[in-house]
Amino acid sequence: MIRKMTLEDLPKIMILEKELFSSPWSEENYRFEILENPYAHYVVEEEQGIRGYLGLWLNEDALQITTLGVASNHQGNGLGQSLVKYSLEYALENKVEVMTLEVRISNTKAIHLYEKNGFIKAAVRKQYYSHPDEDAILMMKTFEQM
Ligand SMILES: CC(C)(COP(=O)(O)OP(=O)(O)OC[C@H]1O[C@@H](n2cnc3c(N)ncnc32)[C@H](O)[C@@H]1OP(=O)(O)O)[C@@H](O)C(=O)NCCC(=O)NCCS
Repeated sequence: MIRKMTLEDLPKIMILEKELFSSPWSEENYRFEILENPYAHYVVEEEQGIRGYLGLWLNEDALQITTLGVASNHQGNGLGQSLVKYSLEYALENKVEVMTLEVRISNTKAIHLYEKNGFIKAAVRKQYYSHPDEDAILMMKTFEQM
């Protein structure tokens, strides 16, 4: 089941952040997203506990994937795909024209997942990441709205 992220989810999200990302977001970052950022839409995938999560920013006709993570012991079972599918449905509901995201150039697993869902590599952002320093690929998917 995919549902909105709440403050009560943050202890588990912090565990997953540290497990999945070399530069994890802080609890304060997530509190801001949930409580104060009017563009933010954060969800969790839950089945006997939180197994994955997704962050989106909706700004007019553009939707950005800000984060996506699946617990290591649940990866490879389609959960990442179901969260990306959720983001595509959210894009259609909100009549979005373009979706974007940044991903580490070495993250072939995530890049495959996005390409499988129609995203293309649009640009390289040099030295975008730290810990370790690395370029980002900007990926993009456009929608033709009626
Ligand atoms: C990227 C991530 C979200 C994928 O989640 P997942 O639940 O394992 O993905 P799924 O099981 O839904 O797999 C979907 C697709 O991912 C790609 N993929 C999955 N495992 C892969 C692997 N070992 N090698 C290459 N591609 C792989 C494939 O395209 C796969 O589709 P397929 O099964 O039809 O080939 C997950 O690995 C993760 O949380 N990684 C750490 C955090 C991260 O890098 N987030 C992305 C930030 S942009």
